[in-house]
Amino acid sequence: MSQAYEKRDLGVTASRMIKDGMVVGLGTGSTAAEFIKALGERIRTEGITVYGVPTSYQAHLLAEQHNIQIVTSQTIDIAVDGADQVDHHDFISKGGGGALLKEKLVDYRADRLMILADFHKFVEKITKVFVEVHPQAIHSVQEELSQYGTCVLRTVHGHPIEEGDQVFITESGNVIFDVKTTVEDPVRMERELNAIHGVMENGLFTRTCIVIQRPRGIPG
Ligand code: A5P
Repeated sequence: MSQAYEKRDLGVTASRMIKDGMVVGLGTGSTAAEFIKALGERIRTEGITVYGVPTSYQAHLLAEQHNIQIVTSQTIDIAVDGADQVDHHDFISKGGGGALLKEKLVDYRADRLMILADFHKFVEKITKVFVEVHPQAIHSVQEELSQYGTCVLRTVHGHPIEEGDQVFITESGNVIFDVKTTVEDPVRMERELNAIHGVMENGLFTRTCIVIQRPRGIPG
């Protein structure tokens, strides 16, 4: 099964769990986009109403195209999002797409969190951690993060910064460090990283969630 098909399939499966009138957190990334499209298809064919709280402009625009009513509700019945890595305890690493701060605001506020992960995402231990940092704290935070492993400031081209490169700026006006490490204790690391002055949020998601997956090669 191709990765694209698998993502579509995960999106359709998750869309079937949404009920008429629900407030839904809308994740960012290619898998969450498949969920939004599949939800749009249900709205079109079944006439249900769904309220959406987006985690990025990307999710916002796609949801509007699919007739999901955008709201800013503090109460969210369920959030549906993708993952960059999922470890064997279902702890998640997110932020490869740069939306981790808004994703955590929505995903942690929701009554339930559903994570859609194709087989590429499953790992024994998380090795990629993304950290959103206030631009004024780049140097001090980089020093602290280097204790955890290799720490690279993200550029729009996705390689270590060189002269003339443009730094990647998030929707909230921050920068992102991509940290390569081995995470032994995700709960502790999530807490530790957020205690560093200048860190706005990190991409370790350790709240309880339901992980929807389809093992490699098993058709729907
Ligand atoms: C966005 O910041 C990320 O957290 C994405 O949710 C994550 O990178 C998964 O993206 P894909 O579904 O495109 O793999």
